[in-house]
Parts: sequence; C-alpha cells; structure tokens
Amino acid sequence: MHREHATSHVGRYGRRRTKLDNRLRTPKVGAPPPGANESRMKLDRRFCIAPMMDWTDRHCRFFHRLLTRRALIYTEMITSGAVLHGDRARLLAYDLAEHPVALQLGSCDPWQLEQCARIAEDFGYDEVNLNIGCPSERVQEGRFGACLMAEPALVGDCVAAMTAAVDLPITVKCRIGIDDQDPEEALEALTCALERAGVAALIVHARKAWLEGLSPRENRDIPPLDYARVYRLKAAHPGLCVVLNGGIADLDQALAHCARLDGVMMGRAAYQEPWRLLAVDPVLFDEPARFSSAKSAAEALIPYIERELARGTRLHAVTRHVLGLFRGVPGARAFRRHLATEAIKPTAGADTFRAALALIADVDARSVAAA
Ligand SMILES: Cc1cc2nc3c(=O)[nH]c(=O)nc-3n(C[C@H](O)[C@H](O)[C@H](O)COP(=O)(O)O)c2cc1C
Repeated sequence: MHREHATSHVGRYGRRRTKLDNRLRTPKVGAPPPGANESRMKLDRRFCIAPMMDWTDRHCRFFHRLLTRRALIYTEMITSGAVLHGDRARLLAYDLAEHPVALQLGSCDPWQLEQCARIAEDFGYDEVNLNIGCPSERVQEGRFGACLMAEPALVGDCVAAMTAAVDLPITVKCRIGIDDQDPEEALEALTCALERAGVAALIVHARKAWLEGLSPRENRDIPPLDYARVYRLKAAHPGLCVVLNGGIADLDQALAHCARLDGVMMGRAAYQEPWRLLAVDPVLFDEPARFSSAKSAAEALIPYIERELARGTRLHAVTRHVLGLFRGVPGARAFRRHLATEAIKPTAGADTFRAALALIADVDARSVAAA
C-alpha cells in the first residue's frame, strides 16, 4: 500500500515530515499493477544482474530484459543526494518492461534514505538496495559504500528507516569485510544488525574491499574470493535470503551456488557476454527462453531503438550494450566493428543497427543452453 502523500508524519528519526518533504515525493510514474506489492515481497532472487555504474543504465536493462524474463535487474548506484536534489525524473526513469527492477542507492543518512525509499516506491521500483560494497575514493569521502562495513549499527539504522517507511523489500549489497577486518566477525555483526532492521536479503560480494591502495577496478579482482564464508553465513542464518556475488562466470556455476544459497548475482559476465542471459530462464527457472537465438532477441530491440531515437537518444547509447551478444556466431566480429564505427555517427539510425545485424548468420542457438 502506498502512503498518503500529503499527510503529516513523524518519522522514526523524530523529524516531522514537512510540506517540502512531501513535495520531494513524486507522482507514481511506473507503478506496477494492483497486487504487485505482494509479489514484490516475494521477489525471486535466484538470478540477479549486478548494479554496474555506467553499464546497467536503462537501455542496458531494457536489453537484458529481452534476454530473460526472470532475472532481477539492478540499476546503477545513485546517491541519495542525487535523488533528492538532482534531475530525479531522468535519474530514476525506467521502462515498465524492466520489472522486476531494483533501485540501488548510496548513502549513510537514514533520513535521506527514508525519503529516497518513498520516492522509489512512488516510481514503482520493486526493491531498494543499499550499496555498502563500493570502495571508490569519492564514495569514501561521503562516508558511504564499503567503509560502512565498519559501522553495522548505522547501516542497521539506514535499513530500519527505509523498512519503516515503505512496503518495498529493502536489501543490502556488501563485502565480506574491509581492510584488516576479520570476515567471520565483521559479516556476522553486520548481518545481525541488518536482520534486526528487517532486511529482505543480503547480497554478498564474496571478497574483502581494500580501501587504501587498490582502485575500485582492482578491488573487483585482487582480494581473493571466499565463497565458503558466504555458505557459512547462510548456514548460520537459514531464515535470511542470501545471494552470492563475485566471479560467477557461467550458469553452471550459478546453479551450483543456488543449491546452497538463495540466489546469485552476476556482474561482468552478464554485461560482457549477454548471450548467457538467454539461458537463464530455461536453466534456472525451467521456463522457455524468450528467444530461440541471440539474433532474434536483437531484432526485438529495434522498436525500442526507434522509440529512443525519436526521443533524441543517440544510437550508440543503446547499441554499446549489445556488442558482446554474439559469441561464436559467424559475423560477430563484423557486427561489432560495424557498430563501433557507424553507431557513433550523429546520423546513425535503426538502419545502422539493421545493417550490423545483417552481418550475423542465422543460427538457431539451442546451444544457449550451454551458457
Ligand atoms: C563497471 C562496473 C561498475 C560497477 N558499479 C557498481 C555499482 O554501482 N554498485 C555496486 O554495488 N557494485 C558495482 N559494481 C560491482 C558489481 O556489482 C559486482 O559486485 C562486481 O563486478 C563483482 O561481480 P562479478 O564478478 O560478477 O562482476 C560495478 C562493477 C563494474 C564492473
């Protein structure tokens, strides 16, 4: 149930909601149909596509949704300050076809997060996720992201503020620890605080983050993965939905983790080799794939491209996410090359994409099942 916009409300932090706060709310723009709230609380997290800054924008998410009906898709991280004070309509825009879609937020301010969660609910998002795994310097300066692994009580307050404010599931994406933390203790303390706060799921990037000396990119590869720590977490908290992230390269690995956990989150492999996503529905959900080949999925993107071009979007903004779609299909390299040189031209249109697709052989990809 959505809350009344105009009523005065004393929040958990004792601050009376003002008219300004109410103006911060937005008319519902993407609200899913009645009854959706119930199913939201039961979101299936068996397969999630990771939030990736500059990668999982709305065009990418629309494209990924063509490849799998069942994956839970995450936005890029958006800071609470940007949601509250930035161009909200642009930042939070998404296509209704993207459902189920989770909004990822970055912040350490319970009050701001409470406001953002209300706005996310009004926009019709299916989940709000708090990022406490990002090690970038910018994020550390704001005292959020991975450095919050050292402040479980504050993270608990953030989550409690959101769960009290909205009916959406509130989830957290974290690491197993930071710097010299002991992952046994750090992850356990965080998990206990989050369970008390009513977290709906914990997504664990199964490696530490090193806040000094490693770039965000290095922090995705260098600290070693420790899947066993995540398995132990699930064993110690059987009632908590635990999703594993980090280094999952294919759907066989995803299936193996799903036997011990509630789900997996795939990042770089999903983005760089999106053809794998065609096999998500058959392999993980025992449902037919949306398309029998990557080429037919790409053809289904054309009406979206035409719509976006009519709104002033450049072709490359959409097609840059599609470059890795064809692997092992004759013509894949020519497809990539054509888009790399032609789609960036200001005059590029849907025909440019059609011409690139014409370079791809028609292959019925039942082999997608091997993804
Ligand atoms: C380009 C890029 C941007 C990322 N941006 C975010 C982000 O905004 N929020 C977040 O929680 N993680 C972000 N990540 C981390 C991923 O969500 C994921 O945790 C990480 O890539 C490990 O999973 P993988 O091995 O499956 O890629 C980003 C990763 C990449 C490659």
